[in-house]
Amino acid sequence: MIEERGTKLDIEAEDEPTKESKVFYNNEMVLNRDISVSALKVYSEDQKVDLKVLDALAGTGIRGIRYFREVPDIEKVTINDSKPDAFENIKKNLELNSLKTKVEVTSRDANLLMSERRKGFHYIDLDPFGSPARFIDSAARSLKHDSFIGITATDLAALCGTYRKTCRRKYGSWVQNLPYHHEVGIRVLIKSVFDALAVHNKVFDPKLCYAERHYYRIMGEVRETKKGVNRSLKNIGFLSFCSGCGYRKFSGEKERVMRECPNCEQDTRKIGPLWTGKIGRKNFIEKVRKSLKEKKLNEAVELTKMLEKEMDIKKPFYDTHNIGKITGQPAVSRDKLIKKIEDKGYNAERTHFSPTGIKTSAPIEDILSISKEMNRKK
Ligand SMILES: C[S@@+](CC[C@H](N)C(=O)[O-])C[C@H]1O[C@@H](n2cnc3c(N)ncnc32)[C@H](O)[C@@H]1O
Repeated sequence: MIEERGTKLDIEAEDEPTKESKVFYNNEMVLNRDISVSALKVYSEDQKVDLKVLDALAGTGIRGIRYFREVPDIEKVTINDSKPDAFENIKKNLELNSLKTKVEVTSRDANLLMSERRKGFHYIDLDPFGSPARFIDSAARSLKHDSFIGITATDLAALCGTYRKTCRRKYGSWVQNLPYHHEVGIRVLIKSVFDALAVHNKVFDPKLCYAERHYYRIMGEVRETKKGVNRSLKNIGFLSFCSGCGYRKFSGEKERVMRECPNCEQDTRKIGPLWTGKIGRKNFIEKVRKSLKEKKLNEAVELTKMLEKEMDIKKPFYDTHNIGKITGQPAVSRDKLIKKIEDKGYNAERTHFSPTGIKTSAPIEDILSISKEMNRKK
C-alpha cells in the first residue's frame, strides 16, 4: 500500500513505472499533483457553484481522490480510466479512503466520455502517457462556459523541436531545438490548447504553467466568449531569433517577418506559431504558493516562488552557458549577472526553466557586454 498526502492507494510502489505497469502510479509526479490540488482549490474559491470535476486519465485515481479530499466546494468527481485493471483499482482505492458518495468511477475511452458529456465539467485533468494532443478537442467540448483545465505533457522531445515533424503533426508548429527549448516547448503546447478551445469559441487563459523534470504542466481558466478569443489572438505569434548573437523577439502572426538581426545583421530564423503572452498570472500563483506553504510542501513552494517572480518577463530566458558560447568566454555566474543587469536598470530574475538561466527584458547587446565585462574583471 502507498500513502500520498493522506490518501491511501492499494498498489505496490514501482521504481520505474511504465505504460505496461498493471496500474500506473508515478511517485515523481507528487509535486505535479500537489500543485494541481492547490491550483484547483484557488480556482474554486472564486466560483459561485460547487465544481464537477473529471479525472479523465486516472490510473489509480490518485488525482480525483485527492481533489475530492483536499478541495472543498466539489459537487462530484468522475474518475475515469479505460484500462480494466485501473478501473478495479480505483474502486478499491475509494473504499480504502471511505469515499462512498459524490464520486463516480467509469471505465470509458476518455474521448468518448468527454464528447458525450458536453459542457459537463468545471474542471478536467488530462494526465496522459506522452502527448495530450488527442484528448484536447473532446476536453474543449466537455468544459463548461466557465471552467478550468490542467494538462500534463511528457513528449518533450516533440514539443521542444527535437522531432520537428512530430511537433508539426501533433501541435501544428514548426520549431527547432534552441538553448531555451523548454520555454519554446511549453509555449507550443499552450498555443495548441488555445487553438483547440478557440474552435469551440472558448478562450484559454494560462494561470500557472511550468516545466519540471520530464514534463510540462499547464493549468488555466477557460471561458466561452468569441470576443475573448478574438482579443487573445494577440498572444499567438512567432519567435524570430539569431543563432549568431542570441537575439530573440516575439512577433504577432500578421507582423512582417524580420529577416536580418537588428543587433548583428546575420540572417534570423523564425519558429512557431506559439504562445507569446504570459504563461501564468502572478496573483494566482501567489495564492497557490500560500496554499502550498500552509501544507508545508516546500519543494512546490520553492517552484511557485520562482514562477511568481519570473512571470511578468515574457521574453524567452537566456542561458549563461549559451551566452558564454556566443562571447567565446567562460559562462559567468547567474546570480552575479542578474545583479549587474539590475544595476543597469533592467529587470532580471532566475528562471525555473534552467538552473543556469535568467529571465530579463534587457536587450541582448547589453547582456553580452555585461557578461564580457564580468569576464574582464575576473
Ligand atoms: C499517466 S497515466 C495516469 C496517471 C495518473 N493521472 C496519476 O496522476 O497517477 C495515464 C492513464 O491513462 C489511461 N488511458 C490511456 N488512454 C486512455 C483513454 N483513451 N481513455 C481513458 N484512459 C486512458 C491509462 O490506462 C493510464 O492509466
